[in-house]
Amino acid sequence: MEIIAGDTHTAFGLGMREKSVTQSLFTQYIQHKKNQVHCSIGRTVPPHMLCIGILVHTEIHIPVLLAETLSHLALHPGAQVIDCTAGYGGHSTQILKQIQPNGRLLCIDRDPNAIAVLQRKFAEAISSGQVCLFHGEFSQLETACAEHGFSQADAILADLGVSSPQLDTPTRGFSFQKDGPLDMRMNPNSETPSAQEFLQEVGEEELRNILWKYGEEPQGRKIARVIVSQREEHPLTTTGALASLIQKTVSYSTQSRKHPATKTFQALRIYLNGELQELEMWLPQALSVLRPKGRLCVLTFHSLEDRIVKHTLRQWANPPSLLPKDLPVYLEKKNILGTIIKPFPLNASPEESDQNPRARSAKLRVFEKGA
Ligand SMILES: C[S@@+](CC[C@H](N)C(=O)[O-])C[C@H]1O[C@@H](n2cnc3c(N)ncnc32)[C@H](O)[C@@H]1O
Repeated sequence: MEIIAGDTHTAFGLGMREKSVTQSLFTQYIQHKKNQVHCSIGRTVPPHMLCIGILVHTEIHIPVLLAETLSHLALHPGAQVIDCTAGYGGHSTQILKQIQPNGRLLCIDRDPNAIAVLQRKFAEAISSGQVCLFHGEFSQLETACAEHGFSQADAILADLGVSSPQLDTPTRGFSFQKDGPLDMRMNPNSETPSAQEFLQEVGEEELRNILWKYGEEPQGRKIARVIVSQREEHPLTTTGALASLIQKTVSYSTQSRKHPATKTFQALRIYLNGELQELEMWLPQALSVLRPKGRLCVLTFHSLEDRIVKHTLRQWANPPSLLPKDLPVYLEKKNILGTIIKPFPLNASPEESDQNPRARSAKLRVFEKGA
């Protein structure tokens, strides 16, 4: 059965495998839609009739560590807030509620589909000037702020990586579990090459390095060799073809719950979207846009991005000494830029991780800019 409801396009079939996930998504969905789901032929059906289905494809993204993020953003009525990775507006919707009245929210995303969803979701707030949208990279934060008159922000959020709809929509080409064109770009209209174009051109050694650097894939040499050697005769055009080539090439434990293509897909996605470079360019801009005592919250999902955030926040909170080591430290007045709110990152609770497997690897880091 095909269901279309507002900005949600969801397909259901019969089966048990993803029932609990479906039900947990549905609970949020039903609350959101005030107990009504419209099916594609225009009928309104009660939600309990649909909960027997398996969720095959959805535009629903469950915001990770939502309550913790909201409380650490220290929101208040009238606050000016920037959501640098607004996605489908999960965090943004709740932020907007907490900054009423007179608050302003700037939502940034590089994905045109996300921007289209946000445009529909926040249509009223956009027309009243409470919400502004910026389609682009968050490394353009200062430009986005200048364009929309956000001179200083009270709170800034980045919930890094890809959203559930990006991962779960086969045509976006991010998933080794669902066959689709080999794309992997968060903005498919950008001029950067798709994964298919990239794999057709890249040198073997460069590919091996990328697989190691961004995926920590120990079998990157074998994978790079087989991709390069067979691409003339058999160009890789789909995620399924790449995943099965890797599966045939590498040795892996059949006991492992991870697909052997996991690390390769992660590496290609991070590389093609310049994810770490984006983060490095964004962090200093976020600090400069924050007002004194403003809060910065960053949600990371893998160790490479978390390391960058952790080191940057530590440097801001405790800048390295510029004086020679043998001089007494009391001579130095360090330029401390703010405070790390929690020395250790916050993780999702076991309950949240059970309900939303994407929360398992999430880490929330919080920084407060100095006065
Ligand atoms: C994990 S999702 C955010 C979900 C959102 N917090 C919610 O609750 O709906 C990450 C989003 O960030 C966007 N994104 C990732 N890197 C970006 C970048 N460098 N610039 C702009 N958007 C980016 C992705 O397109 C995706 O929509």
